[in-house]
Amino acid sequence: MFKAKDLLGIKELTTDEIYYILETASGFKDVLQRDIKKVPPLRGKTVVNLFFEPSTRTRISFELAAKRLSADVINLSTTTSSVVKGETLKDTALTIKALGADFVVIRHSSAGVPHFLSRLLNISVINAGDGANEHPTQALLDLFTVLSYKKKIKDLTIAIIGDITHSRVARSNIYAFTKLGAQVRVICPPTLMPAEVKSLGIEIYSNMEEGLKKADVIMTLRLQLERQSKAFFPSLEEYFYLYGLTTERVKLAKDNAIVMHPGPMNRGVEIESEVADGPQSVILEQVTNGLAVRMAVLYLLAGVKK
Ligand code: CP
Repeated sequence: MFKAKDLLGIKELTTDEIYYILETASGFKDVLQRDIKKVPPLRGKTVVNLFFEPSTRTRISFELAAKRLSADVINLSTTTSSVVKGETLKDTALTIKALGADFVVIRHSSAGVPHFLSRLLNISVINAGDGANEHPTQALLDLFTVLSYKKKIKDLTIAIIGDITHSRVARSNIYAFTKLGAQVRVICPPTLMPAEVKSLGIEIYSNMEEGLKKADVIMTLRLQLERQSKAFFPSLEEYFYLYGLTTERVKLAKDNAIVMHPGPMNRGVEIESEVADGPQSVILEQVTNGLAVRMAVLYLLAGVKK
């Protein structure tokens, strides 16, 4: 059922594969509610988390997912590896392989690095975010969270707000929700709307009030200031004025709409605290669901013949 040795992006997955991961994650969510949360499928396997960009949620979540599956886990970051001494990514990856790792979970500022490692190594490579390209496990945990509330994805209206140009979360979620039959709207300043996304069958809005109307799901994104090489809007205050998610704006969506954010949040920039902590917010559930989803990904990839 699951044939690829790696998880590089949502773009490469079929609808059946996506549902298979989500069903497997649902089983692990049950496991995580037991008194004893540890299960043995990855006993004897080693997972290396190789993070060349900061992360709280994804790194901890992969570490915990691997430990819950009884794997050994090694965490390497730019500052703690020999990359600071000038070692290349290729040599670092080959070293990890030579030490007997079975999985590499990679986050990198450059798009395509997981694909490069996938060709280089005959072990499983998992993309934990590559530049502005993709963040597949984030989209999978977002699908899982929406399904838990809405029971289906098809025909839902998903409003994704923010910095689409620099967001790997936006790309992975656009692929994920459109593949499963949702209507995706993106709401963003015209300066943060990349041309290639327009061909993906989505609706594009530059006005929050229009884009949020009757949405089932509101997903607002962090402004990726570290990836913005020039000014795409006059000021953060103006951005919040035009695109900030406020209580008043949430009321434009359906009454039972859920509010999502992949984190980390910039409160007062893309989202008001009252909304982030409000009754429609499922932001912390996204984090919780990420653990089950990442357990499912590791478990399914472990079963693929390399
Ligand atoms: N959503 C997400 O990728 O968060 P981190 O950067 O904290 O991993």
